[in-house]
Amino acid sequence: MKRVLVIGAGGQIGSELVPFLRKKYGNENVIATGRRTKLPETITEHGPWMYLDALNQDSLKKVIYEKSIDIVYHMASILSATGEKMPQTAWDININGLINVLEVSRRYDVERVIWPSSIAAFGPTTPRENTPNETILQPTTMYGITKVAGELLAEYYFKKYGLLTLSMRLPGIISSETPPGGGTTDYAVEIFYEAIKHKKYTCFLREDTMLPMLYQPDCLQCHLDFAEKDPSLFKRHVYNVTGMSFTAGELVAEIKKHIPELKVEYKPDFRQEIADSWPKSIDDSLARKEWGWNPKYDLAAMTKDMIEKLSKRLK
Ligand code: SER
Repeated sequence: MKRVLVIGAGGQIGSELVPFLRKKYGNENVIATGRRTKLPETITEHGPWMYLDALNQDSLKKVIYEKSIDIVYHMASILSATGEKMPQTAWDININGLINVLEVSRRYDVERVIWPSSIAAFGPTTPRENTPNETILQPTTMYGITKVAGELLAEYYFKKYGLLTLSMRLPGIISSETPPGGGTTDYAVEIFYEAIKHKKYTCFLREDTMLPMLYQPDCLQCHLDFAEKDPSLFKRHVYNVTGMSFTAGELVAEIKKHIPELKVEYKPDFRQEIADSWPKSIDDSLARKEWGWNPKYDLAAMTKDMIEKLSKRLK
């Protein structure tokens, strides 16, 4: 059985990735680590977990060596909006954390390092519709800059040392367990909580802002595919992936089919400029063709599932 390390297990993706991977690899074989966010009981009650700071190379070495890790998921990151408030911290966590993970992984013969990139790697000079996999990468946010640098760094470790590194350029992730923090696409999660609890929401992006998004079950499957698929399928180290694209207004209209009383106001803040620098839609045909990426959820199916899951939980 493979031994898996998840760094950043308390986050929006990590908190659901750990239980998902434990079903596949066995509870004992998936080690959850966090640094800042408290790990949920769904993680701590069912398998190994510990404190780990990716900025500390020695503690990374210790866990990768002692636990004979085969696959590393490096999920710890500062997102786009927080990154604009503290650019230097974003660089430190996102890049110095990543290079430590890559360096220790190649020294201790880790088989794969899976590290999410983002649509934030694109910028205002990138074609905004149906953005191709191979295109201009000139982001204007610190978060985006760390994603481009990280993509290059991960590929460097493959070319120089043969460490298999794989990255998906994630769009906004919509999920029902752990809310995201500090991102520009967070509105698409917050709105569900507010719609169910208070039937009203103030959106920090304009109504006509269109962004690419992905529902958590598809996001988790993508992470598992990167660990499981035959390495020869991957013709590159970075893949565009997407599940749907919608404007804030279209999401509101879809939620209103379930919660007609919902009232939404639009008060764009500094995050509007970030959203305006990102693609509206993504071309993920290379991921589909090369390793069989095939997301299941569209806007209608995601909205229905989110409302069902959250309504149960928030009662
Ligand atoms: N969800 C991220 C953000 O908004 C994009 O990768 O920062």
